[in-house]
Amino acid sequence: MRFTQFLRLLAIAGPALAALEVDGDACTVTPLGTGTNGKDPDDTPQILSAFKQCGKNGRIVLTEGLFHIGQVMKTTDLANVSIEIHGTLKWSADIQYWLRNSLSVTYAGRSTAWMLGGNDIKLLGFGKALFDGNGQLWYDQNRNQGNQNGRPISLTLWHARNVLVDGITWRQVQFWHTFVAYSQNITMTNLDMNATSNSQWKTVNTDGVDTWNSKDVVIANWTVTCGDDCISMKGNSTNISVSNVTCRESGCACIGSIGSQPSQPDYVENVYFDNVTCKHSSNAAWIKTYSGTGHVRNITFANFRISEVDQPIYVTPCIYSANGCDSSRLAISDVRWVNITGTSRYNVAAGIHCSAAAPCKGFSMENVNITPAAGGSAKWLCSNIQNQGSSGIPCTGTCPADWPQQLKGNR
Ligand SMILES: *[C@@H]1O[C@H](CO)[C@@H](O)[C@H](O)[C@H]1NC(C)=O
Ligand SMILES: *[C@@H]1O[C@H](CO)[C@@H](O)[C@H](O)[C@H]1NC(C)=O
Ligand SMILES: *[C@@H]1O[C@H](CO)[C@@H](O)[C@H](O)[C@H]1NC(C)=O
Ligand SMILES: *[C@@H]1O[C@H](CO)[C@@H](O)[C@H](O)[C@H]1NC(C)=O
Ligand SMILES: *[C@@H]1O[C@H](CO)[C@@H](O)[C@H](O)[C@H]1NC(C)=O
Ligand SMILES: *[C@@H]1O[C@H](CO)[C@@H](O)[C@H](O)[C@H]1NC(C)=O
Ligand SMILES: *[C@@H]1O[C@H](CO)[C@@H](O)[C@H](O)[C@H]1NC(C)=O
Ligand SMILES: *[C@@H]1O[C@H](CO)[C@@H](O)[C@H](O)[C@H]1NC(C)=O
Ligand SMILES: *[C@@H]1O[C@H](CO)[C@@H](O)[C@H](O)[C@H]1NC(C)=O
Ligand SMILES: *[C@@H]1O[C@H](CO)[C@@H](O)[C@H](O)[C@H]1NC(C)=O
Repeated sequence: MRFTQFLRLLAIAGPALAALEVDGDACTVTPLGTGTNGKDPDDTPQILSAFKQCGKNGRIVLTEGLFHIGQVMKTTDLANVSIEIHGTLKWSADIQYWLRNSLSVTYAGRSTAWMLGGNDIKLLGFGKALFDGNGQLWYDQNRNQGNQNGRPISLTLWHARNVLVDGITWRQVQFWHTFVAYSQNITMTNLDMNATSNSQWKTVNTDGVDTWNSKDVVIANWTVTCGDDCISMKGNSTNISVSNVTCRESGCACIGSIGSQPSQPDYVENVYFDNVTCKHSSNAAWIKTYSGTGHVRNITFANFRISEVDQPIYVTPCIYSANGCDSSRLAISDVRWVNITGTSRYNVAAGIHCSAAAPCKGFSMENVNITPAAGGSAKWLCSNIQNQGSSGIPCTGTCPADWPQQLKGNR
């Protein structure tokens, strides 16, 4: 032991039993504990202090126990660090604080509670770390509206390179679980997420992950229950591999939405989804764009098992707005669905409407077998697919331009 320094941070409210222990290049944080009169001490300062002292060429250990997170965390200058979390991080119930202070991620007005960035970072949870977002408060106050400004994403990887995130469990997340932005070579494995409302209000926009302006991302071994897109690639995502994922109550595997701002092209390329299970979800293997600019190219959806999915396969060039459904020039090409089996909730397996101005090219389906849960055969609706006849898509009719993403019954 080269040198040991005990740094006791006295909490204003409460018996200060906690300590940030700095031992060489390792910082160990223990929780401040539970306060009186419902006022729990805030663990954020000592956690941020650990990042400051050990965030470069170091190790940050959060011990077992309950850490109260009362403030935003911006830890973006990390280098060669291992962050090892054994306990629970619980984000505070002070909605007004978060609305005012969440950190902007510059995407669509969104913001985050924790922004993590830098190079060569391991964020390890050992299957023990629990991130509790206190989300029920957000679900109740948002009343089925999902995009309140300031409602924070739990964890954002921001200008991060060479990162491993592994073994973390999320419960009742505030908003999206994770966001990967301006990042490269990111591996996120063995993650368990569940946002389930216990009131009449839904968990709208509790996405599992969204990637944006990022490349070389590996996602594997996830179990997600959430109220929106489960795994989603937004603009400028390339070389993404997703495997061994189970999604419930969600949009499951999704490209988009992209192309919302015509002045900014969005490109999504080289995405491979493999071995995905979609249960009781709105969609399963789908693509949504606005009629903006950019392209979607070389996407594979392979080995999907689906059950009771409202509309398993869906492609639209005019999501949410039904604007420019046939004039969009955002090209969608080389999309393959292979080994997709299971049941649709209604009598529609696929709704694919491509823009007349830029028909979809290189679409193919192999061994795709979707039947309505109630029996009978499913409709496969197709419009403006180049070489439709040889695509393997078992089209049964045309797909109207404004065909909806959300189905509520047989059509
Ligand atoms: C990375 O940090 C560890 C300490 O956690 C140190 O032993 C190692 O030398 C560092 N690596 C580099 C390349 O600096
Ligand atoms: C990618 O990141 C991992 C850490 O997750 C690292 O081991 C690997 O060397 C990185 N790859 C490249 C090409 O830098
Ligand atoms: C998610 O959490 C809800 C509420 O606690 C629970 O009923 C449900 O079984 C959980 N889902 C999974 C897949 O564990
Ligand atoms: C794609 O990502 C994988 C895994 O991160 C990496 O090994 C590979 O080199 C990347 N390929 C390209 C073409 O960037
Ligand atoms: C995924 O889980 C399987 C089964 O538990 C395990 O063998 C595999 O190593 C895991 N993959 C990763 C990348 O952790
Ligand atoms: C997927 O799961 C299988 C079976 O558990 C495992 O062998 C494989 O390594 C996993 N794939 C990844 C990328 O972790
Ligand atoms: C697919 O992923 C599941 C976990 O979601 C795993 O149990 C299964 O072994 C994987 N199958 C293959 C062929 O990797
Ligand atoms: C995507 O990348 C292109 C080309 O690099 C760039 O012009 C565009 O602004 C990016 N889009 C977004 C939304 O950042
Ligand atoms: C398509 O994407 C896959 C990865 O999903 C990659 O291996 C392949 O090289 C890409 N094809 C082209 C033509 O870029
Ligand atoms: C589709 O399933 C068949 C049979 O299980 C398998 O041999 C093939 O590799 C799968 N295709 C892909 C692209 O995973």
